[in-house]
Amino acid sequence: MPDAAVFVHPHALCESDQVGAGTRIWAFAHVLAGALVGADCNICDHVFVEGGARVGDRVTVKNGVLLWEGVSVGDEVFLGPGVVFTNDLRPRAHIKRTGDELVRTVVRDGATLGANATVVCGVTIGAHAFVAAGSVVTGDVPAHAFVAGNPATQRGWVCTCGERIGPDLRCRAGHWTEITKIRDTTLNRT
Ligand SMILES: CC(C)(COP(=O)(O)OP(=O)(O)OC[C@H]1O[C@@H](n2cnc3c(N)ncnc32)[C@H](O)[C@@H]1OP(=O)(O)O)[C@@H](O)C(=O)NCCC(=O)NCCS
Ligand SMILES: [Zn+2]
Repeated sequence: MPDAAVFVHPHALCESDQVGAGTRIWAFAHVLAGALVGADCNICDHVFVEGGARVGDRVTVKNGVLLWEGVSVGDEVFLGPGVVFTNDLRPRAHIKRTGDELVRTVVRDGATLGANATVVCGVTIGAHAFVAAGSVVTGDVPAHAFVAGNPATQRGWVCTCGERIGPDLRCRAGHWTEITKIRDTTLNRT
């Protein structure tokens, strides 16, 4: 069971004792034993977090998100409503895969996944990347990349603040992003 610093709605089910202080788990969400959830997260209604899934600090997990074993989400990630992860590339009902047989997915710090995005397992979504609503992510997404569609393809770059980055590497608010350096270093980390 989580400690007292975690808010668990009376109609939520939290079986993990590894949930950070300040995290709120709302009605009909289910966090299984062995799930690792950081501090100050917002786990909204109808979210499912399987044992072995990892969620960082200050993560927003909107309604109906499904997080399975093998999925690792960094800090300050935004998962829009209905975002679905996967952990088996070629599932068959008669083959049960566990542990190392599952295919990992990593979402790095500050990334946003829009509503109903689907993430095919085995990919890394880079820091501060932005996945448009309804996208199907089938490959790695560089840090600060904006991707959309099915399959998701890169359409541009986004700032840490979420605005598009122009050719001068600045967003509308004037923030500057060192895209090349981030792109080259992010995807190779484990
Ligand atoms: C990505 C998003 C922010 C739009 O950004 P934008 O900068 O206004 O996008 P643009 O209108 O400049 O579109 C850029 C291109 O991507 C395409 N595009 C934008 N959003 C798209 C989407 N969700 N799916 C497919 N293509 C999309 C546009 O059609 C456009 O393509 P084109 O250049 O060929 O015309 C928005 O579509 C989105 O998905 N937001 C997330 C909303 C969400 O899920 N919120 C959850 C909290 S409730
Ligand atoms: Zn900005």
